[in-house]
Amino acid sequence: MRVGVLTGGGDCPGLNAVIRAVVRKGIKDYGYEFVGFRDGWRGPLEGDTMPLDRAAVSGILPRGGTILGSSRTNLMKIDGGVERVKQNMNEQGIDALVAIGGEDTLGVATQLTEQGVNVVGVPKTIDNDLNATDYTFGFDTAVGIATDAIDRLHTTAESHHRALVVEVMGRHAGWIALHSGMAAGANVILIPERPFDIGEVVEHVESRFRTNYAPILVVAEGAHPEEGQMELSAGEKDAFGHVRLGGIGQRLSEEIESRTGKEARSVVLGHVQRGGTPSAFDRVLATRLGVNAIEAVHDQEYGKMVALQGTDIKRVDLSAATDKLKTVPAERFEEAEVFFG
Ligand code: F6P
Repeated sequence: MRVGVLTGGGDCPGLNAVIRAVVRKGIKDYGYEFVGFRDGWRGPLEGDTMPLDRAAVSGILPRGGTILGSSRTNLMKIDGGVERVKQNMNEQGIDALVAIGGEDTLGVATQLTEQGVNVVGVPKTIDNDLNATDYTFGFDTAVGIATDAIDRLHTTAESHHRALVVEVMGRHAGWIALHSGMAAGANVILIPERPFDIGEVVEHVESRFRTNYAPILVVAEGAHPEEGQMELSAGEKDAFGHVRLGGIGQRLSEEIESRTGKEARSVVLGHVQRGGTPSAFDRVLATRLGVNAIEAVHDQEYGKMVALQGTDIKRVDLSAATDKLKTVPAERFEEAEVFFG
């Protein structure tokens, strides 16, 4: 049996741990051969491969990024794309694919399954917004990086009696903002699920200044004000139609300065949250998902995704993971709101 492995979408700490686990378990227990497809769906589309044997995965467990490379190539937008993938898989003698990715990569995997390709999915995103899994690997690392940054920003904000707005990733779901904001004691957390009232935000900022401490606001990149409150500019779109975000933090700090007369600064954490070594939690989760993904291949349970549910790894339909996003529930946000202002 020959198995292809690919990583698609935005990279994420823990991808290499999954690749290593898939390959080590597959060789040790089943005697499988592996082929790495480079740069997400571009690899099978163009037949671009790399060797993926025991030596290739040696030493990669703690390394961030992905040895396979990644891209946001959208197979479904390319004429004859699915046929080309099938043909390239045939030529390479590939029996099954392990696709490690988020909403977009697994969405393509779902459609390929419907067209007869043998695929098992592994959920990946620092955003933690994939449905049917309690956590995605990469999220814990991103929250750790953001928490450390916010801790540091507290002290400099206090020295200068300024408000600091920290923009974190999260285009449709505010999980990173919620967790890092709670962990680091933010005075305001803004998430895409809950359009904010700028007047209320300013009240929290002013009440914090009155206590002589500096306000720290954590804002998810996809957060937005209630209709008609502040103007925001839209960025370019990628192959999956996602607008390039980034800018709400800066916009918010300008608004705070003009409404309060106090100094404000903004910091965009950006891709720092996706880089570097995975946390121990993410290494373990990624490893368990990899081991379970190759077991699913061995059982020929295609069209499935491996998922963390409670403390167990379960198999769920790929479509269940991609048909809707896992957003922050209102009651989780209310727990964080206790500490606003
Ligand atoms: O989906 C993961 C993610 O990190 C989002 O939080 C973010 O909006 C996006 O990727 C950024 O993507 P890119 O790497 O294309 O800038």
